[in-house]
Amino acid sequence: MSTFQDKKILLCVTGGIAAYKAIDLASMLVKSGCRVRTLLTDAAMKFLSPLNFAAITGEKVYSSQWDEDDPIPHITLADWAEQIVVAPATANSIAKAVYGFGDSLLGATLLAHTRPVIWVPAMNLHMYENPITQENIVRLKEKGHHVLCPDTGRLACGYSGKGKYPPNTEIMQAIACYLNYTEDLKGKKVMVTAGATSEAIDPMRVITNKSSGKMGIALARALALRGAEVHLVYANISVELPYLLAESVQATTVETMYEAVLCRAPQMDWIIKCAAVSDYKPLSSAKQKLKKGKALNLELIPTQDILAALGKEKEVGQRLIGFAAETEDLLANAAKKLKAKKLDLIVVNHLDNAAQDSNSIQILSATDIAHPKSYSGLKSELAHYIINEILAYG
Ligand SMILES: Cc1cc2nc3c(=O)[nH]c(=O)nc-3n(C[C@H](O)[C@H](O)[C@H](O)COP(=O)(O)O)c2cc1C
Repeated sequence: MSTFQDKKILLCVTGGIAAYKAIDLASMLVKSGCRVRTLLTDAAMKFLSPLNFAAITGEKVYSSQWDEDDPIPHITLADWAEQIVVAPATANSIAKAVYGFGDSLLGATLLAHTRPVIWVPAMNLHMYENPITQENIVRLKEKGHHVLCPDTGRLACGYSGKGKYPPNTEIMQAIACYLNYTEDLKGKKVMVTAGATSEAIDPMRVITNKSSGKMGIALARALALRGAEVHLVYANISVELPYLLAESVQATTVETMYEAVLCRAPQMDWIIKCAAVSDYKPLSSAKQKLKKGKALNLELIPTQDILAALGKEKEVGQRLIGFAAETEDLLANAAKKLKAKKLDLIVVNHLDNAAQDSNSIQILSATDIAHPKSYSGLKSELAHYIINEILAYG
């Protein structure tokens, strides 16, 4: 990821049971091109050895305010870091940061740092749900810090619920996001559709397409990281769902996707239709598996046009964004679709890149159809460019 090249990241590890996961995070950051320094609290040192981080990062590991080599390590680290990440963040470290305690190297460094910090809380669910922890998290957010929501699942303490350290791949996406963007979509409700629909031929066979869902999932994640309330309606996808969405609903046929999308549409500020939806489906699907034998003619009928229905029922001020995956006359076909379906923006891409991690796209806007914007890059980066174009459209 080019976003990370030569970025100076200070990884602060506090004394939670998930501290060992920060070793892998340090490794991922280094492999992505970052320079990583590590700060371990006294409690973190009970769980881990500084040697792990020194070997992986090739940099000094800090733990004490009283450093023989550097008389003011908290200022050195605070000034050096382009991004501070506290992962995992204990309830204790969050509480002390809110009240500005400078009685540890972590506390003093945070006080001396001037940019927003990324916090990754991880703890027992009762510690997380405790109103004191919740109030502290609100206060960190009010001060402009980015506090990731913990994952839900089985916790090391034996409980199941919210409080789990999220996957490091998600934390990497969050760091990439906040190195460049802010939570500028707070208060926006956005629906994203993703993936390939499928229509049954018989109980075993389907008509589908090559969409992987990677672009739609990248958009959903980027929107959520930037503060939007994201509702994802997805069909068949080949990637993990982001854990931080308000709602994820699976709808694999055009009919179920139509219903899921249309009933949510009136509440949305933006609707981004990224799913690759079948244009045709079998007139009927066989109840039993079709047997091998003579030639078979399938009668196909058109499916419901979800985008056209959304265009017809568009609310005042609502933004409707479509995708056009084409093999020829990309821009001309996309311009036609934009007008016919009453879209605000359309993202055009070539079908060859449907399942890849990177793509080249062009974005056409209803108010300036003659001047498409071109972008290339990882789908995770393209997601942010698309969001920026929607914001610029107004
Ligand atoms: C075995 C063990 C596991 C712990 N796990 C967590 C945890 O996951 N999250 C948390 O907030 N505190 C956890 N604690 C409590 C913290 O270690 C304790 O609050 C400590 O003072 C945190 O110090 P620090 O924030 O300076 O690292 C754990 C304590 C023990 C003994």
